[in-house]
Amino acid sequence: MMLDLLRQLLGPWYLQIKFVHVLAMAVWIASTLVGYTYYLVPVFKAWRRNPQDQEIIALRNWAMERFDQGIIYEHIAFPLIIITGPMMYIAGGWSTATNWLLLKIIIVCLVAIPVEIVDYHISHFGGAKQRLRAAGDAEGYDRAVQRHWMFFLVTSPPIMVFSLLIVFLAVTKPF
Ligand code: HEM
Repeated sequence: MMLDLLRQLLGPWYLQIKFVHVLAMAVWIASTLVGYTYYLVPVFKAWRRNPQDQEIIALRNWAMERFDQGIIYEHIAFPLIIITGPMMYIAGGWSTATNWLLLKIIIVCLVAIPVEIVDYHISHFGGAKQRLRAAGDAEGYDRAVQRHWMFFLVTSPPIMVFSLLIVFLAVTKPF
């Protein structure tokens, strides 16, 4: 009953909802690529080679704090994807009998959502470097920077593979 009403309301806007879904997907996947690859990776590699160098530590911290800010695009896009996906699911009369969609939703729930929840926390809430610096917590600050970097090293490879797999499934609908 409720679903039918939603389907009637959203149906005429299917392509507009899909437009937002696909645009948000592009921002989610690509908005941090340059910042991560050409700013964070080189400065953390330099820091690993010279862990006591104060100039490199200052640059590392600056890059990490900028990244905490810049990731806001990804973190606005992700909820937009997670809201428009189910809207299309309802509006288009999709079901989990569609295998590509079922696998896609499983990957989103088991990989994308858990990783993003941690990412929100360490970028904007308890782990926000700017906030730790403002509180004068130098030790907490350094621990947060190193933990965030470790998080990136562990999560970036699977996230890259699974996010491309999600898009591949959605566009090619292979099964
Ligand atoms: C990180 C999460 C997600 C990404 C990257 C993503 C990506 C995409 C992309 C690229 C398309 C366009 C496919 C095309 O042009 O044919 C799409 C379509 C679609 N997505 Fe997602 N999606 C995500 C999450 C979800 C979720 C959670 C749902 C549902 C609960 C969902 C349901 C759909 C549906 C129903 C379509 C429409 C298929 C069509 O009309 O051809 N998506 N998605």
